[in-house]
Amino acid sequence: MSFLGNLVRTKDIDTVIHQNDDVEEGSSLSKRLSARDLMGFGIGIVIGTGIFTLTGVEAKNHAGPAIVVSFLIAGVISMLAALCYAELASAVPTAGSSYTYAYATIGEIFAWIIAWDLILEFALGAAVVARGWSGYLQDSLGLPTSIFGESSVVNLGAVFISLVLGVVAAVGIRESKWVTNALVAIKVTVCLFVIVAGLFFLKASNLTPFFPPSRPDPENKSGLAQPLWQWISGADPSAYGIAGVLVAAAVVFFAYSGFEAVANLGEETENPGRDMPRGLIGTLVICTVLYLGVCFVLTGMVNFKSLSEGAPISDAFHQVGLGWAGFLIGLAAICGLSSVILVDIVAMGRIGFALCRDGLLPPAIGKVHEKYQTPFRITIGTTIVVAVIAAFVPLATLAEMVSIGTLFAFVVVAVAVAVLRKTKPRMDRPFRTPQVPLLPILSAVLCVGLMASLATETWLRFLVWLVIGLVVYGFYGRKHSVLNRGSRGRIEPTKGSDPRHPGQVVD
Ligand code: ALA
Repeated sequence: MSFLGNLVRTKDIDTVIHQNDDVEEGSSLSKRLSARDLMGFGIGIVIGTGIFTLTGVEAKNHAGPAIVVSFLIAGVISMLAALCYAELASAVPTAGSSYTYAYATIGEIFAWIIAWDLILEFALGAAVVARGWSGYLQDSLGLPTSIFGESSVVNLGAVFISLVLGVVAAVGIRESKWVTNALVAIKVTVCLFVIVAGLFFLKASNLTPFFPPSRPDPENKSGLAQPLWQWISGADPSAYGIAGVLVAAAVVFFAYSGFEAVANLGEETENPGRDMPRGLIGTLVICTVLYLGVCFVLTGMVNFKSLSEGAPISDAFHQVGLGWAGFLIGLAAICGLSSVILVDIVAMGRIGFALCRDGLLPPAIGKVHEKYQTPFRITIGTTIVVAVIAAFVPLATLAEMVSIGTLFAFVVVAVAVAVLRKTKPRMDRPFRTPQVPLLPILSAVLCVGLMASLATETWLRFLVWLVIGLVVYGFYGRKHSVLNRGSRGRIEPTKGSDPRHPGQVVD
């Protein structure tokens, strides 16, 4: 095969769909999840630091009360992506999600880029949520701000929770189903409580002007710290106004990231054709409605300029004199955020495992631990990296990196939907994305638009990460890929272990 041919070689889609048919009994997955289970799983990993922490940072620094519009924009763009995911997740119900779709449709190099991007998304996602966790712990227990929360120099709180949950993931302890359900219930209850109780403390004056007028950026962000589009166009750095709302939308997009992990559960879903679209879209609708309610009430309770950056929701209740509610919200956030960190770390290990299995990374890294049956080395290794990053890098900077990574993955999935309609027109598609190719094109264009609202330095960091990935692929994956061995993507089942399922919940 030619050099270019190698880069765009694909796995056979039927092989991907049937890859587990002959997996030993006991390690294949029972099909037992319903649409409701999928939504529970989705809400469990979507609601996290985005709403609990970023709302405060972004309302204060970029959008003011119009943060609700930022959340709406990010929600609509996520919904378009969800409609694309739904077609692929119902037609190719397999673990691996966008990595597998890209491998089966647009080629190995793109699949590699997506996986490399997903590692970034989950690693930095875990770091963001660890910092959010630390902020809420500090606020609830009055711990020293020098080592907890966003004003710390070294965020030891974030390091602590990353390492603890990294070890939990490495030894294979997963949340039991009832813990997962309880955490979902707690998070949804907190959001509903904030919306209902907060309504009694709304002040119209806090919500006007709804769009604070654009003004020169108080942080005097210039050069590479500006959004890409401002940097390219030479527009003056500004905060608030429409530009501020768009910047905030790109950052709070983080709050929706993770819903696509629902697509990983295709193999375990009772009726993927029916339940996958419901699970994906239902998760997003519920989260969007809760997010909009929380943002509106929060900025109505407290003037956006006085929002806390570390624990804005519990702090708002303290500010209106409902200290007990603030305390309880803090505790609930601490529990709820822990599970998001755990799922992110587990997912990271699983992606690494899949890459090693497909020969794109050295198999030794992804070796499954004999006792714990997890990709132990890769999980511990990546956890240490997460802890170091969480110690030093500010939450908003990390969230921007996750947003750019997630948006990029959405662009690839949208392209894959359109490409697959052309190349595999007769493939069975239980759910069809409406208006193809218009909707996928719109989805990709809006994702790129949102990416352009992220800081130029975020783009540069992301590009550096991709270049490192391409170098690794060039020197290793291209030569060692399982597809090189002429197996047309045949994937050997892994004996006695099934570490392919990020966030799989055990009974
Ligand atoms: N969407 C998740 C959060 O907001 C990652 O924490």
